[in-house]
Amino acid sequence: MLAHFLRDAEAVEQACLDGIGRAADPAALEQVRVEYLGRRGRVQELLGRLGGIAAEERPEAGQRANRLKRALEEALAARRAELERPAVRPAGPAAAADVTMPGRTHGAGAAHPISQVMDLLVEILGRMGFAVADGPDVETAYHNFDALNTPEEHPSRDPQDTFYLPEGTLLRTQTSPVQIRVMERTPPPVRIIAPGRCYRRDTADATHSASFQQIEGLYVDEQVSLADLKGTLQELAHQLFGAAVQVRFRPHFFPFTEPSIECDFSCTVCRGRGCRVCKQSGWLEIAGAGMVDPRVFSKIGYDPERYTGFAFGMGIERIAMILFGLNDIRLLYENDLRFIEQFRARFHEADR
Ligand code: PHE
Repeated sequence: MLAHFLRDAEAVEQACLDGIGRAADPAALEQVRVEYLGRRGRVQELLGRLGGIAAEERPEAGQRANRLKRALEEALAARRAELERPAVRPAGPAAAADVTMPGRTHGAGAAHPISQVMDLLVEILGRMGFAVADGPDVETAYHNFDALNTPEEHPSRDPQDTFYLPEGTLLRTQTSPVQIRVMERTPPPVRIIAPGRCYRRDTADATHSASFQQIEGLYVDEQVSLADLKGTLQELAHQLFGAAVQVRFRPHFFPFTEPSIECDFSCTVCRGRGCRVCKQSGWLEIAGAGMVDPRVFSKIGYDPERYTGFAFGMGIERIAMILFGLNDIRLLYENDLRFIEQFRARFHEADR
């Protein structure tokens, strides 16, 4: 008798739990409750059979019946709470998120100061009509030297100064080879800037780095003059450092420009009075420049009788050091976050 009762109790429990699990809404769940725990339900029916069980077996049967009733009531309550929870709730793991946990911070990134300066130069020159051109870091000796009219014995070709690679290639020592690459594939007029990385076998010190960046400019058309070059660099100076900055040209030499000049900006730190940054001269050397040598035009197939052009090149780190007031170029390459994080805001928004 007892064994029979216990088996039935077990079967009722299983069937009821299945029904609770399957109930998809509160109404279906209520039906299950009535079927098992209602006044004429299957649990009540079991309880009714207790009287027919032998007296010595009755306590065990009664305990089983009570446990059954409690288990089913608890399962029903739990399922009801589940079904009545609001429909809209965070899905997946977020539902289990502990909102009292401390947040995980993802620091906002920012452009490296060198990139900021480069972006600004590209922006200013872009507004003046220059389009961005690109060239490889691994160059041919032809593009880096020969086509730029650089004689065989020129010191810049020395392996002490240039990183040579196999098969007549090298790490470009300047962005000027991009001039050649653009002219090779584009008939005049040409008006480009070429931002990019350059390499020289310099020992690193406060003002030298074996890898550095330049921006090159090239403008070729009929009747381009030195005055156009001066106007362009003057406008660049004003946009970069403000309207008070003066620009001067000094004669210089580059193999691929004739005449060649070096362009100075009046010192932005002391406003030309003389200080440590400008070595008391009142002037900062900013760019190498000049009129494209007709021999370069002949080499790449432009008619030197018809076209003239100007070119300029400048170092980004130097401008960054002036703008940010840095005294050591190595700060820009150590990638110490404590340093870099000081340049989050674009300086021309913050300081000018
Ligand atoms: N390429 C030269 C340098 O690296 C700079 C330059 C560019 C000079 C264009 C003249 C014209 O020193």
